[in-house]
Amino acid sequence: MFESSEQKNRTVEQIQTILNQTTPGLLPDDELRGFVETNFIKGRRFIHTIGGHRTPCYLFEPGMIIARAKAFKKAFQQYLPDIGFYFAMKSNNFPEVSKIILGCGFGLDVSSGSELKTALELGADDIVFSGPGKTLQELDIAITHNSKVVVLMDSFTEMKRLEKRAARHEKTVMTGIRLTTEPYGLWRKFGILLQDLKTFIQESKRYKHIKINGLQFHSSWNMGPERQIAFMQELGATLATLTSEEKEMINFIDIGGGYWPEQGEWLQPAGIPQGKQGESGNVKNTKSAGYPHYINSSVPIEIFARELSHAICEHIHSQVSCKICFEPGRWICNDSMHIILKVIDKKYNDLVITDGGTNAIGWERFETDYCPILNISRPAMTERECLITGSLCTPHDVWGYSYWGRDIQGGDLLMIPNQGAYTYSLRQHFIKAVPDVIAFP
Ligand SMILES: Cc1ncc(COP(=O)(O)O)c(C=O)c1O
Repeated sequence: MFESSEQKNRTVEQIQTILNQTTPGLLPDDELRGFVETNFIKGRRFIHTIGGHRTPCYLFEPGMIIARAKAFKKAFQQYLPDIGFYFAMKSNNFPEVSKIILGCGFGLDVSSGSELKTALELGADDIVFSGPGKTLQELDIAITHNSKVVVLMDSFTEMKRLEKRAARHEKTVMTGIRLTTEPYGLWRKFGILLQDLKTFIQESKRYKHIKINGLQFHSSWNMGPERQIAFMQELGATLATLTSEEKEMINFIDIGGGYWPEQGEWLQPAGIPQGKQGESGNVKNTKSAGYPHYINSSVPIEIFARELSHAICEHIHSQVSCKICFEPGRWICNDSMHIILKVIDKKYNDLVITDGGTNAIGWERFETDYCPILNISRPAMTERECLITGSLCTPHDVWGYSYWGRDIQGGDLLMIPNQGAYTYSLRQHFIKAVPDVIAFP
């Protein structure tokens, strides 16, 4: 529904207007209703095939992973001849997700020793290992499996540590260099500054057990390709300063993940800049009329692919002819999992408690993010105000401030669609156990 032809056909100017919006706009009613309608159909199918006796649970749609993986590849393959795809396991670490995506011709992007072990257990033989502060034990796993793993080095000291460990194992490790995309603020913790690239490459020549094979950068939360393009421009200028021998070392450039799904980011009033100044718990009192929802719009993957590919030709391939790699996470898995809950206590007409708590998503997401809660036991295209909370013994256990349906009663099944990204991976055994995953054909 969100990949409507209307959205795909937006002109560059229209997209620019959307992306220039500094504050989120109101969520268009037709987009919201389309989403609710589609997911009511899915939710009803769930009740018919699986029933409602296994709540709370994550409802997993394997077919969605396959469809998204194919669509992502297709979008870029039409522009770029030599490309590689790596699923960012951190975005959803349910092993079945990675298993399915391996079957779609993706490699895996891991960020810890435990993710690396899972990838190897799943039989992955094309793995990139990214992330700051890799421990010696984590480096040892990568070195032991050096034919399957490329270590994306995060710093000068990590390069030294890797050399030492690889020498001890008498093995050579394929590596890449992670580049910092933002030299200020919290993101500066990742990688090295562009201005240090040449020195880094020169220093690597002293190390006999490390082979530099490429570069990587990653920026997050991209609603459109602008930031990635701006960095490629800087990267191109830096590549131009390398010698031809140094350029020849670069066989891949991995441009990371960070592609926001075309649904956009849906927000509660407390999630917009004005709302963030107040207490999120007071949202209900600050509403002016009805119950407004907001959106930070994003562009379809086809637009990312077109614009990024042009920038790659202009800034990168003009300097080095290398493979281009991608590390999408959220874009692939977001729509593949839904949360199903049961109303366990209706306290008042505008306050219900569900059998599952937000430990299933691991953070206080819905105090600021908006996702329609569908009463799949009593579907109706009407949104009704009601505080929907989980059963954890904490007030911050909030699923939302409304539901879609005719009514709400004890025993009703509620669906929170598209919770596949950065929720399952963040789940925690806090007060209550984490729910089971049920695969939904
Ligand atoms: C190095 C790296 N690559 C890829 C990703 C995936 O990003 P996203 O899920 O936004 O596509 C992340 C996420 O933080 C990351 O750190």
